[in-house]
Amino acid sequence: MSYQICLIPGDGIGQEVIPAARALLKATGLKFLFIQAEAGWATFTQLGTALPKETIEAVRKADATLFGAVSSPLKPISGYRSPIVTLRRELDLYANLRPIVSQPTPNSRQGIDMLIVRENSEGLYSGREREIAEGAITERLITRRASLRIARRAFQLALTRRKKVTIIHKANVLRATCGLFRQMAMQIAKEFPQIEVEEMLVDTAAMRLITSPERFDVLLTPNLFGDILSDEAAALVGGLGLIPSGNIGDNTAIFEPIHGSAPDIAGKGIANPTATLLAAAMLLEYLGEQKTATRVKRAIQHVLEHGPHTPDLGGTATTQAVTEAVIRELEQG
Ligand code: NAI
Ligand code: MG
Repeated sequence: MSYQICLIPGDGIGQEVIPAARALLKATGLKFLFIQAEAGWATFTQLGTALPKETIEAVRKADATLFGAVSSPLKPISGYRSPIVTLRRELDLYANLRPIVSQPTPNSRQGIDMLIVRENSEGLYSGREREIAEGAITERLITRRASLRIARRAFQLALTRRKKVTIIHKANVLRATCGLFRQMAMQIAKEFPQIEVEEMLVDTAAMRLITSPERFDVLLTPNLFGDILSDEAAALVGGLGLIPSGNIGDNTAIFEPIHGSAPDIAGKGIANPTATLLAAAMLLEYLGEQKTATRVKRAIQHVLEHGPHTPDLGGTATTQAVTEAVIRELEQG
């Protein structure tokens, strides 16, 4: 049997890190059928859409998808919507899982092992935006259904970990939306008496991530807060080049690094592939290939510990050299 994997490199360093992950998956010895699909800014300039229908269909059909990164303009451009945000919504990939774990690198703090469970389908990323006479409005949509299912996912995952969930919100100010998110999470908490529950305002959480990150196990958060806190948390353990994520729905899943297209280093061949290689390991776990996932993670850990390292980790190695070192380690280990 072979797995059908959709690959969406996208823009910038997405074009460099996805081939690295593909090479690593090939080296596992498992059988894959790779389907290449397009999305992003370059696609928009060529085809007038950042996310062609064929790409959505390819993701829908695949067993799982690996996504690189896309460039999104900061100014509103008619017809352009961030394809990853659209994909998450179209395919109802409602759980965004971002593991933040200490790494054996000099720039990583030790003792950190947390999982950010971010609601991925609504919140301030609702896409409901409009201009009004005096300015503009983005609607923050929080539904009971989406809040309950992401809370349930967080508590289920906590059962397999240190059994603690921190519910992050700003219910003191965003009384309607964060109030509901909090209330739904508390309701689910009652189904999991074995899990320790705490709640924390998002600004306090931002501070405690820096002062005492070891205290966190599972962080349950609405969409935008989770996006921001995960980049902050990434900085504790070696930076954006190291953190993978999964967008998980009931029918399929997309795995990606949490970083963007990094135009400042794109085309130089020096992007750190680790985040995407770890995303590939998450994909293997999702497919049920635990043993291979563990082998892959061990090989990545070995290279993080002993090098070679890309410049973001203080080294001089290229994306390709790091990838080849991981593959060598996988094949020998
Ligand atoms: P970014 O994540 O692309 O880069 C931030 C900084 O981290 C840059 O200095 C970059 O060089 C560095 N960096 C990121 N990944 C790295 C890696 N693998 N190895 C070494 N260094 C790495 O965020 P930025 O610069 O704010 O956004 C650039 C573009 O990416 C924008 O167009 C933005 O819309 C897009 N973006 C896309 C995302 C996605 O496709 N999921 C997520 C975040 C941003
Ligand atoms: Mg982000």
